[in-house]
Amino acid sequence: MVNNQYANHGIDLQLGLGEEDMWVKGNKYKVEQVLLNLLSNAKFAVEEKQKLKSARSFKKRIRINTFISDSIVVFEVEDNGSGIYKKDLDNIFDPFFTTKDVENGTGLGLSISYGIIKEMKGHIDVESEINKFTKMKVSLPFEKGGTD
Ligand SMILES: Nc1ncnc2c1ncn2[C@@H]1O[C@H](COP(=O)(O)OP(=O)(O)O)[C@@H](O)[C@H]1O
Ligand SMILES: [Mg+2]
Repeated sequence: MVNNQYANHGIDLQLGLGEEDMWVKGNKYKVEQVLLNLLSNAKFAVEEKQKLKSARSFKKRIRINTFISDSIVVFEVEDNGSGIYKKDLDNIFDPFFTTKDVENGTGLGLSISYGIIKEMKGHIDVESEINKFTKMKVSLPFEKGGTD
C-alpha cells in the first residue's frame, strides 16, 4: 500500500518478514490500521530529521520486521528519524498527546493503536533515541490454526 508513495519520497522501506505463518486473533483491518499509524509516524519522523541542516547526507530509512518468539507474534516498525525525547516517552500513548502542529497531528494515532492492541491481548513497546531512531514493537498472542 505505501511502497510507491514512500519510494517517491526517497524513503528506503525495508522488509524483514519471518517465514512462519503468523496467525493472530482479531480484526485484520484494525491490525492494518495500527501498522499504517506506525508507518505514518515513522514517515513524519524521517522527514523531520531530513529538515535539519546537519542531516543533508541523511538517508531516510524505515524497516518492518516480523517474527515469532515464544508463541508471541511480533511486528516492529523502526525508523532512523527524529526520535522521541525521554520526557515524552511516557505520554505518547495518551489521547491527544502530540508534538506536531495542527496540520500534522491529532495525537490520536498511538492511543487508538494502543487500544486496538490491548483489545487483542497484546502490547506495544517503544524504544527510541533522540535524533537517532525509534522502534515500535507490537506483540500479539499467536493463535494456532488460524484462517484468513
Ligand atoms: N516514529 C516516531 N518518531 C518520533 N516520534 C514519534 C514516533 N511515533 C510517535 N512519535 C511521537 O508520539 C506522538 C504521538 O503520536 P500519535 O499518537 O501518532 O499522534 P500524532 O502523530 O498525531 O502526533 C507524536 O506527536 C510524536 O511526538
Ligand atoms: Mg500519528
